[in-house]
Amino acid sequence: MSEKATLSIRGKCIEFPVYEGTEGDVAVDISQLYPEHKLMTYDPSLASTAVCRSTVTYIDGDKGILRYRGIPIEKFVHESPNFIEVAYLLLAGNLPTPEEGKAFRRRLTENELLPEPMEHYFSRVPKTAPPMALLSAAMNNLACYHTEFLELDNDDQFMEISARLISKIRTIASYIYRRTHYLPLIYPNPNMRYCANFLHMMFSLPYSPYEVTPEIEDALNLILILHADHEQNCSAATVRVVASSRANLFASCAAGICALWGSLHGGANVAVMEMLARIHEGGLSPEECIKMAKDKNNPFRLFGFGHRVYKNYDPRAKILRAACDRVFAKLKTQNDPLLNIARRLEELALSDSYFIDRKLYPNVDFYSGLLLRSMGIPTNMFTVMFAMGRLPGWIAQWKEQHDAQGRIIRPRQIYVGNNETDYTPENMR
Ligand code: CMC
Repeated sequence: MSEKATLSIRGKCIEFPVYEGTEGDVAVDISQLYPEHKLMTYDPSLASTAVCRSTVTYIDGDKGILRYRGIPIEKFVHESPNFIEVAYLLLAGNLPTPEEGKAFRRRLTENELLPEPMEHYFSRVPKTAPPMALLSAAMNNLACYHTEFLELDNDDQFMEISARLISKIRTIASYIYRRTHYLPLIYPNPNMRYCANFLHMMFSLPYSPYEVTPEIEDALNLILILHADHEQNCSAATVRVVASSRANLFASCAAGICALWGSLHGGANVAVMEMLARIHEGGLSPEECIKMAKDKNNPFRLFGFGHRVYKNYDPRAKILRAACDRVFAKLKTQNDPLLNIARRLEELALSDSYFIDRKLYPNVDFYSGLLLRSMGIPTNMFTVMFAMGRLPGWIAQWKEQHDAQGRIIRPRQIYVGNNETDYTPENMR
């Protein structure tokens, strides 16, 4: 007999099915609690609620494990890093054969340009435009030029639009940078690999091509791989909620971009850099920064620290920390004062009982910005870089939600407002 959980409430005893995941996660299925018993559960930030069954990504937060389709992320780092292979793995569920890889890369190359009218969209933006606002609008804008992909009927169509979006987000990201810096647009080069092509579009000048160094190309590949998916985080959950209404891929990913923008999520990489810069400029010492983060009367947090799921060192942060040492040594920029400040903050936090007791460790955003900065990417573009990496994950999560053809995601609430109240006419208020 399959396992059951029992809830005893108000003289009733209710039984629920129990599910177990392939890695031993246990969940009580309470989906019939309201329809059959008019009872709800209360879990405001969904910390104890599984909203789907997924085969994309596995995290063990206590052990610091992260796997894409079962493969530990460390494997992608030690082999020659290749973001496009990881993207294919997340989308298709398997690593590409040489032929599949070639066909997928061809699709990316054939779709790297933006529709010409979209270039004018970028030409009219003010210098101060927030890059994440432009990115989310551009993602929705793409729907206008690819209407044949608003409904997806088969896997080939899905892979085609996925390749188009993954290719075009790179062009969009570089155009956002160029236009907000009033620089001329540089077209993609079909002979370049994904990351090298992005760096070329970001930094080449019409009269002087940017020279891509292998260290920088590898570091960018690594950053994109480490951001590629992270199961039911805030933006992926947003993508699923939007997808559950049967909204298309463009709209769902645009919503994911908006969710990522916030400083508790992807926007933390910007907040980390601003915090390090503030310390460097002398406005704050590392010790004061730690003190502020611990003060419950101060909304300030130690950005790049803590995680809903990881109660151990975030494995992505571990890899990025080592990459900083490696890349900075090769680029001879190891004296970046912000890296030393980051190390000092980490040292202080990891020996402080506030952080130890709460199991707060560096997360992916703590070191990623330092690497992006070493590539010449400005701070306000950091969250756009996160989105570029996360797009394959959002698409894979969207597909699972779409293929399951499940019910619309629609939580309930505990109403705590007024009881029935009379309407007061305006002249009597
Ligand atoms: N600095 C100071 N205190 C913290 C921090 C921090 N960075 N993170 C958590 N805490 C405290 C929090 O105040 C709470 O204390 P208490 O138990 O005394 O009330 C305790 O630790 C538990 O924190 P929580 O807010 O309940 O944790 P959460 O799971 O709701 O939030 C988090 C997770 C990532 C939003 C949070 O740790 C945070 O705000 N970190 C800083 C922002 C950040 O780096 N975000 C990037 C997350 S990783 C990449 C991504 O998803 O984008």
